[in-house]
Formats: sequence, structure tokens, C-alpha cells
Amino acid sequence: MSTKRKPVIAGNWKMHTTLGTASALAEGVRDRIGAPDVEVVICPPFTALSTVGQVVANSPVRLGAQNMNAHAKGAFTGEIAPDMLTDLGVTYVILGHSERRQLFGETDELVNAKVHAAIANGLVPIICVGETLEEREAAITDTVVIGQTQRALIGVAPERFAALIFAYEPVWAIGTGKTCDASEANRVCALIRDTLAKLSSYEAAEQARVLYGGSVKPETIRAQMAESDIDGALVGGASLEAASFAAIVAFDRTAT
Ligand code: PGA
Repeated sequence: MSTKRKPVIAGNWKMHTTLGTASALAEGVRDRIGAPDVEVVICPPFTALSTVGQVVANSPVRLGAQNMNAHAKGAFTGEIAPDMLTDLGVTYVILGHSERRQLFGETDELVNAKVHAAIANGLVPIICVGETLEEREAAITDTVVIGQTQRALIGVAPERFAALIFAYEPVWAIGTGKTCDASEANRVCALIRDTLAKLSSYEAAEQARVLYGGSVKPETIRAQMAESDIDGALVGGASLEAASFAAIVAFDRTAT
């Protein structure tokens, strides 16, 4: 964590919760976090955005979506347009999550189109990049992460870079309980920042936030946040319990 950048702790609820459990979870988070020094974002499923938005209104908790379509409107059955999200008070959107890439065939080109759509609609994209286990074992982690980062940003104006959020999520660490070693995660986060600097400027890259994601827990967050280039966390499993998510938000007060 750098003192220059405000940390972001984002919870990705994935395909969990119905209205009752979503409200209860959002209330639990809202009531536990107090006035945090970090940006706190929760990303419920689309169906719970409106309800959760009401629960967290007038609180420091911000609303994020887990995905969206890049088009403004049209014949795209089952899809959600950017302004359908902003209408509900959504201000962040996770793009290119590895589950979208692996299970739903999202390509770098599609992620790039979504990044443009997010920016055009005033949404802060949380752009996910990361290598699979096979890619790590083949020692191509850096090539994969740099390539995904560059291709997500094709055509994005350099002056937009400072407001971007990236999440380095090694695929082998997601939902597996295996966290990436904090110093290795930091090395890759710094590589993402270096890629941003080369595409825009050192100053813009120094302002962009780069999060780590992959089995983040209250017990791991403090070591992760002690690293120079990790500016927060994208949390899956541990965001489904208000107490553990709140403990991650309060990382500087959480025991290691
Ligand atoms: P996890 O998920 O914390 O359950 O590993 C992280 C993510 O998918 O963003």
C-alpha cells in the first residue's frame, strides 16, 4: 500500500444471495465498518443491486456490479447495459473476471470494449487479469498479465488511466484457499503498474489502484497491504460473511 493511493476493498458476491440474504449481508457490512479509511465496494448479483443499494444508501459502502454488456442497448437477450447499472446507483463494475473469461468465453477484445463502455458511462472499471496454473508453471505469468493489461486498454486515453482499478487475480488462487505469496503478488501488481506507466505516464500509473484477489482472508490481508504496490483486495468467499469482510476492511487493525 502506498500512502499516495486510497486503498479499495471490494467484495464480489458472485452468484450468491437472494433478496433476504443480500439485505442481511449488506446491513451486516454497513453496520460493522464504521468510517473506514478505504473505499469499500460490494458487488451483489444484478437482481439484488436495487435492494442492496437502498441498504447502503448514505453509508460509505459503494455499489458495484460483477459484469455488464458493452453495448448501450439493443437485441441482447439476458444482458445488462451500463445505464441500467448507473440508474441503480452503481459506480464500479468488475470486468474480465477469470470466471467470465474461462466459463463464458470473454476475450481481451470484449473486455476492452467493456472498459470503454464503463468509462463512457462514468463507471469505475475493476479490470481483472491473472494467469492460470498452467501458465504459471510454464513461466509465462508476466507475459500473460502484461498482455491482458495492454489489450484491456487499447484505445483508452492516457488521461483516464489514473482513475482505473486493476485486480491481479491468479486463477489458481481463486476460491482454492491458496493465496499467492504477498511478495510475489506485489511483484506482479508492480508489473501491471509499470505496464500502465509505459502506456500513459508514470504519474497516471502511480495514481491507478492495483488490487490483489485470490483467497484473501482476514488472516492474509495485513501482509498483503504491507506491500508497496498492492492497493487493496478483491474478495470473493470471505465477502459473503459480514464479519470477515469487515475484518478485511479494517486490515490495519486486524491481527496477522
Ligand atoms: P476468492 O475469490 O476470494 O473466493 O478466492 C476472489 C475473486 O474471484 O474475485
